[in-house]
Amino acid sequence: MCGIVGYIGPRKAQDVLLKGLSRLEYRGYDSAGIAAISSHAVEMVKRKGKLKVLYEELETHPIKGNVGIGHTRWATHGVPSDANAHPHLDCKARLAVVHNGIIENYSELKDGLIKEGHKFRSETDTEVISHLIEKFYHGNLEAAVHKAARLLKGTYAIAVIHKDEPDKVVGARLDSPLIVGVGKGENFLASDATAVLDYTKNVIYLDNNQVITITRNKVTVKEMSGRTVRKPVTRLKWDVSQAEKGGYSHFMLKEIFEQGDILAKILDERIKGQKIVFEQLKIRGVALKKFKRAAIVACGTAYHAGLAGKYMIEELVKMPCWTDTSSEFRYRDPIVDKDTLVIIVSQSGETADSLAALREAKKKGATVVSICNVLGSSIARESDGVIYTHAGPEIAVASTKAYTAQLAIFYLFTLYLAALRKTIPNSRYAYLLKELKKVPALAQQLLSEYKSEYNSLAAYAQEFKRYYIKQHNKSYFLYLGRNINYPNALEGALKLKEIAYISAEGYPAGEMKHGPIALIDENPWVVCIATQSATYDKMLSNIQEIKARNGIIIAVATEGDKELIHQNINYIIEIPKIDELFSPLLVAIPLQLLAYYVSKEFGHDIDQPRNLAKSVTVE
Ligand code: F6R
Repeated sequence: MCGIVGYIGPRKAQDVLLKGLSRLEYRGYDSAGIAAISSHAVEMVKRKGKLKVLYEELETHPIKGNVGIGHTRWATHGVPSDANAHPHLDCKARLAVVHNGIIENYSELKDGLIKEGHKFRSETDTEVISHLIEKFYHGNLEAAVHKAARLLKGTYAIAVIHKDEPDKVVGARLDSPLIVGVGKGENFLASDATAVLDYTKNVIYLDNNQVITITRNKVTVKEMSGRTVRKPVTRLKWDVSQAEKGGYSHFMLKEIFEQGDILAKILDERIKGQKIVFEQLKIRGVALKKFKRAAIVACGTAYHAGLAGKYMIEELVKMPCWTDTSSEFRYRDPIVDKDTLVIIVSQSGETADSLAALREAKKKGATVVSICNVLGSSIARESDGVIYTHAGPEIAVASTKAYTAQLAIFYLFTLYLAALRKTIPNSRYAYLLKELKKVPALAQQLLSEYKSEYNSLAAYAQEFKRYYIKQHNKSYFLYLGRNINYPNALEGALKLKEIAYISAEGYPAGEMKHGPIALIDENPWVVCIATQSATYDKMLSNIQEIKARNGIIIAVATEGDKELIHQNINYIIEIPKIDELFSPLLVAIPLQLLAYYVSKEFGHDIDQPRNLAKSVTVE
């Protein structure tokens, strides 16, 4: 939800800011802008539309200066427009502000400021910050930001420049992410580290209620009380190439194809001989043995990984477990206490609802472990223990590699708990570990079948589009799965909805007869996850029921399945043989690719689908 970046140093600020914004564009892309200090004045350009519109404008009207701030927006208050785009200036254009978050008390503040004579130019909540800082500015930008920040309610990460102090950028944060990129003779502010990776791998993660001042050679962090705090510098392992497309036409495709390697890396890091290790978990084995129940809480794709996690925990750890969406969990009165292990799953580690759920769980005395991808993110830092997925930066808005990485962590963590709590026999543990180790190579093998752009899934997508047009745009998708592949049915449908804008629903196949079967006629394409499993025969019955009503079927089957061939299925996607428990890791891949190709067929913006943003830092 919006990306912000700030720069001070010897380079041309415009170039650094645009590069940073291009890395942050996944956070929002309805408008963008930059401002820099040049010849003791604030120069600004901002435009409605994707970042390329701003690029084009700056090509003809470049901004000079070596100190500046930039923003890419996902609208909350005020429609996408040039006026509502950030940065926002004060009355006299002496200062400029970019903001990520929501100022909840903005209308009250705005009324007061208008009465005092301030002139507003936009409908945004952010503009109150510019005018507040203007009001409090008496020659010291840092002090003015402190004073303004104390009055703000809601969430914010801001970066501010002032023409009278051209030697600094000041920032502040409350519940929206902000990091400092520490360079040599230059420093950066950004919503996340990918924006600064081109220049430095040294970052400082800011905490809530901190105000930061960066100059060319110095980084000063202060609490709201004015006390200076020393912050550790973290050296990132991420590589800038991970934030680039590397020859793929889209980030999503690149990230799908990275999954074999990522799974291998995850298993390699955690499996030592016959043991699974979580060395940095910070929660001791004795404590992990005592929990009576587990609750998994997450949003979107991470929620689907969490749903699969519930099946794993119940099957292997024999511990009651439920999975909840963060937005539901936080607003009811969930039964969690000191005997509950709460697992928060979040790629970004910044999702507002998941962060609030985490705090709710802690308030109730639960121990919280988070599964996060982004190092040093808010959720990671506020959890009692964190397990990083180390999947590298995920740039495409639709989550793919983070999902399978989360699943892999769930497998490892549940097996780890099962061994600790002795809930499965040693022989089963050894067998499962052996099977799990096969997955990365099988994923790689599966992916290699789709290397060419003329592959079977691309052809199915083409067929679907033809059919969709023939059916006067009435065709849509249903995804059916059972047991541990039921979450994949939800995830397959979510992928298709978000990037192809085709109506899609995921359902547990056993629920078909309880309602959704009424939808079946010649319109829907039904993806049936029919891999070898304890419920395989049940799925074959579902397939027959759909066929009897003229539905079109894509079956996801285990390779070599002879029986399915006799079911008169329209299209088959094969996945390599693996124990049923681990099949979700392989089933997920072709479902991601199918959504990708359908979206491509319809000519949509695959990496930046409409109305979405990668990191949902507002409610
Ligand atoms: C779907 C997708 C979203 C996220 C959800 C949670 O492709 O990306 O549904 O999974 O917004 O985000 P995180 O995992 O960052 O908490």
